[in-house]
Amino acid sequence: MPLNRAPEGLIPHADLTPYNTLRLPAEAEYLLSVYRTEQLKEALSWARREQLPVQVLGQGSNVVLAPEVPGLVIRIAIPGVDYQQRDESVIVRAGGGVIWSALVDDSLAKGYSGLENLSLIPGTVGAAPIQNIGAYGVELDQLVLRVETIDLEGQAHIFSAQQCGFRYRDSYFKSEWRGEHLVTAVTLKLSTHAKPVLSYAPLAAAFEGQQSPSAEAVAEQVKRIRRSKLPDPAELPNAGSFFKNPVVPESLFHQLQSEFADIPHWPAVDGIKLSAGWLLQQAGWKGRKEGPLGMHSEQALVLVHHGGANGHDIDAFSERLQQDVLHQFGVALEREPATVGRQNR
Ligand code: EPU
Repeated sequence: MPLNRAPEGLIPHADLTPYNTLRLPAEAEYLLSVYRTEQLKEALSWARREQLPVQVLGQGSNVVLAPEVPGLVIRIAIPGVDYQQRDESVIVRAGGGVIWSALVDDSLAKGYSGLENLSLIPGTVGAAPIQNIGAYGVELDQLVLRVETIDLEGQAHIFSAQQCGFRYRDSYFKSEWRGEHLVTAVTLKLSTHAKPVLSYAPLAAAFEGQQSPSAEAVAEQVKRIRRSKLPDPAELPNAGSFFKNPVVPESLFHQLQSEFADIPHWPAVDGIKLSAGWLLQQAGWKGRKEGPLGMHSEQALVLVHHGGANGHDIDAFSERLQQDVLHQFGVALEREPATVGRQNR
């Protein structure tokens, strides 16, 4: 490509409203969808020459966009799913642009198990390792073999699961290396033999008395539970859980438990994990709507956008929620979705 020639398909002043599930109005200085790693390298080299900051979007299902996003926004649309079966284990490598729930359904239809608990999670394969997606007793890092990336200099990398620094809803890609890597492909380890994970209590209850339900039966049940609690972003714009479940010191937990005997809690490595949804519900936010924003009626942890708000409104609204929970319970809530177009908080 000749020097300084803009990449083919580049859209200046692009409207990002259709590209984020909160349906926030946002304008990118430039938008480019990339389908191949070579195209990605060329785009990054153009952005470097033009000294433009680079931001990445997958399906935009876990982001809060600022009204104006400076620089180049790259939508990773790299396709491709390849399975290799060796005895009982199945290795699947999927392009960063593959829709996560389509990969889950495809692998199950082929008779492979492993992804069933992660059914219906919105977003792309490339976004999955960033926040280490998880649901109903399974987290992505339990299945990851490799994550392939291109860094901002155009260098290719292959990371093992251990090198990615996976933690609860976090990885080096989201924190320590924030914005430095674009995920082009993820390789996962699946199985031909169902090994159901039923540690999530409502899932265990649904299969009570059954020895070993099939992966497809687990997926169906997961979908049922999800649909009953979580709004479909196509119908009611949202970004899933808006806060992480907080981990608090044992002393604070005991203090809270003496006041609220039924407070949901789980042991965590560095303290006691509480339910952010429960805290928000206690604070009166479940189903509450204030102008264009609110918290979902079936799950207080899901911030919903009724139309008419932008990223700044979300910031102001979520800060109020954080203040409220801090004031009432002494617990600091941390936002879960990534912020795009302004400094992280
Ligand atoms: N709860 C309430 N009120 C609420 C919501 C929850 O009291 O409004 C209580 C429930 O009764 C239950 C506990 O909180 O005792 C946990 O609720 P739930 O099982 O619905 O899960 P969660 O902790 O709120 C997490 C994930 C979800 C994931 C589910 C199921 C986080 C931040 N969220 O939610 O992930 O689907 O568990 O595994 O960890 C996401 O990350 O976007 C997401 C949707």
